[in-house]
Amino acid sequence: MKLLLMLLLLALELTLVCVHAEGETSARGKNFNPKKIEGKWYSVGLASDKREMIEEGGSMRVFVEDIDVFENSSLAFKFHTKINGVCTGLYLVCDETEKDGEYFVEYDGRNKFTVLDTDYDGYVIFHLRNVNKGETFQLMELYGRKQDLSSKIKEKFAELCKKHGIVEENILDLTEADRCLQARDG
Ligand SMILES: *[C@@H]1O[C@H](CO)[C@@H](O)[C@H](O)[C@H]1NC(C)=O
Repeated sequence: MKLLLMLLLLALELTLVCVHAEGETSARGKNFNPKKIEGKWYSVGLASDKREMIEEGGSMRVFVEDIDVFENSSLAFKFHTKINGVCTGLYLVCDETEKDGEYFVEYDGRNKFTVLDTDYDGYVIFHLRNVNKGETFQLMELYGRKQDLSSKIKEKFAELCKKHGIVEENILDLTEADRCLQARDG
């Protein structure tokens, strides 16, 4: 009886581990359709375990305008970033790595990122790891199709950030910040 109970608990634990691992990669693999994240986006949330990267003047404080998907499956991002207080365009082409749904781009070091979660027509959450001169940090981004997102989605983003070890005070809500909206097309 006791053994049976232990086996049952073990099975339950294994199931939980599997569910957890699946949640981590929900948007990756065959279910993720990169083509559907194309188009206009707004940066709504930004987080990092190295806060200076996302503060004023930080190289990762970038505001998305548009994502384009190429035939060869590379992703092109059009961003704006403030350099000495001036909104400046930034265009990055990110190539898919040998892993499905993982992308690489050289920008202030070597960056690899994945889409952690998306519903395509509302929000998308990215997780990025930067390696530069032997140092590493994580960056997480929340984009919305509209300028702001529901508190439910923002909470989901915060939960995912915390799961990756990013503390609350390193999670920024950009909706009150100057996101260079006036520099966008149209
Ligand atoms: C994919 O195509 C784009 C646009 O032509 C190009 O900039 C990029 O380098 C290509 N990537 C690969 C891996 O061939």
